[in-house]
Amino acid sequence: MTLRLGDVAPDFEADTTDGKIKFHDWIGAGWAILFSHPKDFTPVCTTELGYVAKLKGEFAKRNVKVIGLSVDPVNSHKQWAEDIKETQGQALNFPIVADPDKKVANLYGMMHPAHDEVFTVRTVFVIDPAKKIRLMITYPQTCGRNFDEILRVIESLQLTDGYKVATPVNWKPGEDVIIVPSLSDEDAKKQFSGWRALKPYLRLTKDPRAGAR
Ligand code: BEZ
Repeated sequence: MTLRLGDVAPDFEADTTDGKIKFHDWIGAGWAILFSHPKDFTPVCTTELGYVAKLKGEFAKRNVKVIGLSVDPVNSHKQWAEDIKETQGQALNFPIVADPDKKVANLYGMMHPAHDEVFTVRTVFVIDPAKKIRLMITYPQTCGRNFDEILRVIESLQLTDGYKVATPVNWKPGEDVIIVPSLSDEDAKKQFSGWRALKPYLRLTKDPRAGAR
């Protein structure tokens, strides 16, 4: 099955470092990030998981839970966690799915056999409170991800869910946003205090949540 944006994230039951979970129940009423790494005890993955653990508070502030996955078993994840704590200065503080039979990896298209027949590539799925997939990214095994960017996308998704805006290139929270072209000037006047129109279709206005941040 090929997953696409807007699809319901497939539910599954699995063993994790925090015990057995049913994925949708584990997500609960908020947002979630499910991400795969190729293998335990590998250098790039060690840096990634340490960094995600450091970001946990930032994700929690935005009502986002994080869960990792690889095809290694739970006891391997737990042993590797010691190395992450030692080398990254941060203990793991989120669960990692153990998927040795590749059930979840295959469900989510995390196996890319022409890249690697045995281990998952680096995928990220951002899932919203309705359990819909809102972001999918896939990186090669040799490139560690930028989790600050994933946080930035979550900021954009949560903002654009609440207002008729889109976020421009390299946008960061607090910077100006774009009024969606489908909103007429007449309706935009009711929703925004003003805007700069560089073109009729390119109207910039203040981040509506800027004061609240
Ligand atoms: C790593 O996480 O360091 C890694 C994993 C698979 C291939 C290359 C690097």
